[in-house]
This record gives sequence, C-alpha cells and structure tokens, in this order.
Amino acid sequence: MASLTIRKLDDGVKTYLRLRSAKNRRSVEEEVRVILRELIEGRQEPLTPFAVPPAQSTAPTPQRSGALPEASVTLIISGGIAAYKSLDLIRRLKERRIEVRCVLTKAAQQFVTPLAVSALSHERVYTDLFDPQSEFDAGHIRLARDCDLIVVAPATADLLAKMANGHADDLASAILLATNRKVLLAPAMNPLMWNNAATRRNIAQLQRDGVVLIGPNSGEMAEAGEAGIGRMSEAIEIATAAERLLRPPVPRPLAGKRVLITAGPTHEPIDPVRYIANRSSGKQGFAIAAAAQAAGADVILVSGPVDLSDPQGVTVKRVESARQMLDQVQAALPVDIAIFAAAVADWRVASEGEQKLKKTSAGMPPLQLIENPDILATISKLTDRRPPLVIGFAAETEHLIDNAKSKLARKGCDWIVANDVSPATGVMGGDRNTVHLISRKNGEEGGEIAVDSWPVMTKEQVAIELVAHVVKSVTDKSREPAS
Ligand code: C5P
Repeated sequence: MASLTIRKLDDGVKTYLRLRSAKNRRSVEEEVRVILRELIEGRQEPLTPFAVPPAQSTAPTPQRSGALPEASVTLIISGGIAAYKSLDLIRRLKERRIEVRCVLTKAAQQFVTPLAVSALSHERVYTDLFDPQSEFDAGHIRLARDCDLIVVAPATADLLAKMANGHADDLASAILLATNRKVLLAPAMNPLMWNNAATRRNIAQLQRDGVVLIGPNSGEMAEAGEAGIGRMSEAIEIATAAERLLRPPVPRPLAGKRVLITAGPTHEPIDPVRYIANRSSGKQGFAIAAAAQAAGADVILVSGPVDLSDPQGVTVKRVESARQMLDQVQAALPVDIAIFAAAVADWRVASEGEQKLKKTSAGMPPLQLIENPDILATISKLTDRRPPLVIGFAAETEHLIDNAKSKLARKGCDWIVANDVSPATGVMGGDRNTVHLISRKNGEEGGEIAVDSWPVMTKEQVAIELVAHVVKSVTDKSREPAS
C-alpha cells in the first residue's frame, strides 16, 4: 500500500489541510483519513471551508538551482540575543526550498515574537509542551520526527546542558530527546560560559552523541566591551551547513569526462513509408546515459527511433538510420568513453524507393541488401581521435561468450557487454538483463580475456554497474605513471 507524505503535497493543498485540521482539532494525517473516508462514502465537506491565504497558496517557492529535492527542518530557537539572527535564518532556509517549522522556548520569546517567526516561516509556531491543540496527538513527537533535520539556533548554554543530560521539561528539550533525526546546533553564549568546564563537558558529550556543531564564531559580544568565542554563526553559514546535511554533495567521479552512447534500433528505409527495424527498445542505452550523467559526465546520446524521453541533463541526438547514427557519432568526437549499445541494423536496402513500392502482377519487388557501416568497428579502429575506452554490446541468441569474445577481437573495442537476447529471456524490450562483461586482461590486444558474469538485474542496475566499472577503469588509468 502506498504511503503519503504530507509535506510533499502542493503548498495550497497543505495549507488547506492545515487550516481544515486545525478547525476540526485533528492532526493533519487524521484529517486526510477523514477526507478520504468522506469521499468514498460520498459525503464531502465543502472543499474550501477557509479562504487559502494567497501568499501561501500561490507564491512560488524561490528556487536556487532547478529541481532541488524538498526538505524540512524543525528550527528550535532558544533564548539569547542571537535569536534575532534566526529570523534571517528562516528566510535563508526557505530560499533553499527547505520548509521550516519553528519552536520557541519561553526565554526565546523575550527576544523574538511568535508572530514574527510565524509570518516568516508561513507556519504556526510551537511554544508549549502542554498545548492542547498540538499535544492531543503527541505533537512534540511529530515535531521531532516529521522533519529531515533539527536545527537549534541559537543553542544556549542552558539548552546544551539539558540536551547533554537528557532533560525533557519543555517543548524544545522534549523534541530533542524524542528525535531520531540529525541535530545541528549553533551555540551562542558569552565566552566565559563557552569556556566553562561544564559547557566543555556538555559539548564533548553532545559530539559523542552525534550532534553536529556550527560555530560559535569569535567576535564582539552583545555585552559592551566583551569579545571572544561565543558569537552565533551567521544565518547564511547555518543555512549552508543545514543544506549540506540535508543534501550531501553527490560524488561526481566522471566530472570533466565526455561520454558518447548509442542506443535503440535503427530504421533502414525501403521506401518513404516502409523500413527494416528490430525490437530494441533503447532502454539499456538510455539507462547508461542517465547513470553516466549522474556520475557527473558530459553525455551525448545518439539514439535511433525509440519511445523514451530524453534523460535529464543529457544531449540527445535522434536519428533514423545507421548512416545518420555514424554521422552523429563522428560529429561528437573527441570523447573519453564511447559505449555502443544501439542495435544497429547490419544491412540496408541497396536502393531505397523514392515512391511507395506498389504491388504488381509481376510479384514481389526484389530487395537487395547491402552492409551498413559498422559504427563500433569504425570508431575502435580510428588512429586519431579513438576514444581511450570503447565499449560494445553483443546481443546473442546462442554461444554467447564465445561470440562475444570473437566480437571483441574483430571489432577492436576494449570491452564487450554480452547479453543473451533469445526470446525466452525477454531481454529485448523487457526491463531486466543478464550480462557478462568481457574485457582484455591488462587492456592488451591479443592478451588474455576476462569474463565477469553479473547476476540478473534491471537495466538501470546494469547501467549503474557498468558506469561503476568505467569509473574504476578511468580512475586506475589516471593513477598509472605517465610513460
Ligand atoms: O550487431 P553486432 O552484434 O555486430 O553488434 C555488436 C556491437 O556493434 C554493438 O555494440 C553495436 O552497437 C555495434 N554495431 C555498430 N554498428 C553496426 C553493427 C553493430 O556500432 N553496424
């Protein structure tokens, strides 16, 4: 059964759900259950019991860099003069498409008001462990867990001490004790408090517990004439640290490498409406393009006619025939890695009819076939601009390994990915693949050949595994001493 994550719903829907659940004094989850039950039973409350505030329902969330994954933070603001910076922190987090729900300790309310925090976060603010509105369904547990990260800014010496010792006598400390999420602390206090042995012990304990610290920085204190370590980090520093925890940088081992991939079948025209084709779906080549792109490569995908949409971030050149495919492949050179996954037609019709061929009493028109250029062999045998790593595919219905080994020698490529496409396997057009990676040991021509057989996998997994092998080969080569 699918599960529904409320925070991933559209802003307008979320606002509607929050307002409606608040009115009915239910949790949002319970409200969703009630709505679904009413819908099924055909007795639906009017869908707009409240006007949805336009600022929340229609204002586009500012985006910094395209489609960042959504994330949410519970921000605990404890009572120190640095609390004013937390208002800016809310804004900085929201700029990064991070939802913020705020909790204010009693002392924090001496420095910032729930109204200001709520206006900036576009959310209700939580202040009280014994608030009947949110605690009737253990609201502190939801605040502790229905988020991806907890940020405490400012974190006072008192809150640090409570945390280090597991106290839970107010909403903030109860959340911190009940959470199973990562916690980022931005301490702020007077330098003497920061250097006090008790705070040192508490900080050491919290670090052992896996809490992440940002700051404090060194500088002027609010207290006239005092300076030292204790200033809370700036809002932008805390937001950046939060984002790094929420969206850790993805390794991009193929950054700076150009990868060329062919995919799909080719269509070889007989006349303007007929062609010779095969059953290749292009799924394997497209999956490799997506995996190489995810590894940071600059990917050019030359594809025959397929019913697949362009993988994100990949330059796609759509072609029909083998000759067009070869033209696009040559135009893409030089590349660092070339992977030829296309099921290129071996033959084409020698002279393509300019008009649709007609049935005549003379019987069937003769179709004379001639060989297509072998793209893999052509590129593998280039003397200049040969890509340092050339990978071919061998789709076979019998003697898979032997045929693939001889193809490796005949075509002059470095690796062959061999797969059994006999109809019983369902590989052609299907979603799974069983492959064997055939390569020359030590990369030497005429040398011993290695066969690495992989278990049955989806085509996406085959793609990821193949790209991992490419990454290893590229990395190993870059470590070889220059000769
Ligand atoms: O069709 P064959 O089994 O020879 O294909 C093996 C490899 O050669 C595949 O990688 C395929 O993309 C490539 N090939 C090619 N041009 C052709 C035929 C095959 O690039 N004309």
